[in-house]
Amino acid sequence: MSEHIRLTPSHNISAADAAAWHRVVAASMARDLPGVPPPGPEQIHAQLTKPPLNSRRLTWLATGSQGSPVGVAGLRLFTSPGRSHLAELELHVDPAHRRLGTGSLLLSAVVAACRAEGRRSLIVEVAADSPGEAFCEKRNFRQALALDHLLLHLDQLDEAAVLQAAEAEHPGYRLTGWTGTVTDDLAVAFAAAKNAMNDMPVGDLDYGTVAWDADRVRAMAGVIADRGDTLLTLAAVHDDGAMAGYTEIVLPQGAPRAQQYDTAVVPAHRGHGLGLWLKAAMVRRLRAAHSGVVEIETDNAEDNVHMLAVNHQLGFRSYRRTREFQLDLPVA
Ligand SMILES: CC(C)(COP(=O)(O)OP(=O)(O)OC[C@H]1O[C@@H](n2cnc3c(N)ncnc32)[C@H](O)[C@@H]1OP(=O)(O)O)[C@@H](O)C(=O)NCCC(=O)NCCS
Repeated sequence: MSEHIRLTPSHNISAADAAAWHRVVAASMARDLPGVPPPGPEQIHAQLTKPPLNSRRLTWLATGSQGSPVGVAGLRLFTSPGRSHLAELELHVDPAHRRLGTGSLLLSAVVAACRAEGRRSLIVEVAADSPGEAFCEKRNFRQALALDHLLLHLDQLDEAAVLQAAEAEHPGYRLTGWTGTVTDDLAVAFAAAKNAMNDMPVGDLDYGTVAWDADRVRAMAGVIADRGDTLLTLAAVHDDGAMAGYTEIVLPQGAPRAQQYDTAVVPAHRGHGLGLWLKAAMVRRLRAAHSGVVEIETDNAEDNVHMLAVNHQLGFRSYRRTREFQLDLPVA
């Protein structure tokens, strides 16, 4: 190592710390994820200071000999019962300071924290065929899931096809939607539908399960609102009152790219085209009420053929691939 690196675990992240973090992440993403907009300094400050839903975050900043930031690591420790074994890593080293051992140093601190916290699975998402992938292979992670990321450019839509899919008849079902927190009358049915996401394909990731209830769905909406982002949901409700499926979009504050969150159809209601219906109706809703949004990003496991087929039908096109890696840690 030709540079003296100092690691600082951060507890109270100031706006200046967040700005330093932003510089490293923006430089790293510009190198490895060209075309993917990095989060802004305010978004990073909100992410690092507001606890994510049912989890805690530990952070480390690596500074070089001049005291300037060269690397960052964030560790999300899940606290819900089905995920208390799991931790998720975010690790970036400034491209000008790579191959000097900084990534390995940050990872050592992260692994020590995982051990201290009794975590047996550490997961991380990296760009396919990138330095992150080589680093993970070198540091004994195993590849657990391949993801395809797709974009839908709203100005290149096949409007007629989207309209037809959004207005197709689905006897026995009606569409409903809300912004932010689910309305009280639908909260229990929505939580039940959210549990359908537990069978989403996750490859060999030891991802655990999440038990949703009405309080938890409200808490998730609260976390997104606290970040300053907007959560839009559309749901298909069956005549018997059950929620058959739903789709969620998040509009990050001030950003033109919407992020797809869950789309799920409950097993008993699959095979009726509800996924395409929901997603087409969401595209129309964005067009009608959120004209600042120019594109939607989604990611799917490469073997999630049904969801990929729905997305391709709507006009989503693949634009990058990522890999989820997992490090299995022996628990004492
Ligand atoms: C992955 C990343 C964090 C590595 O940071 P780093 O400070 O360069 O890592 P290190 O210097 O500790 O590298 C350790 C070993 O990983 C391997 N490695 C790292 N980058 C590599 C690359 N570009 N090509 C091949 N091997 C690589 C090497 O074996 C290296 O040892 P060596 O330099 O002695 O050959 C950095 O490239 C990065 O920020 N990438 C983008 C973000 C990302 O993918 N994060 C997730 C990482 S889990």
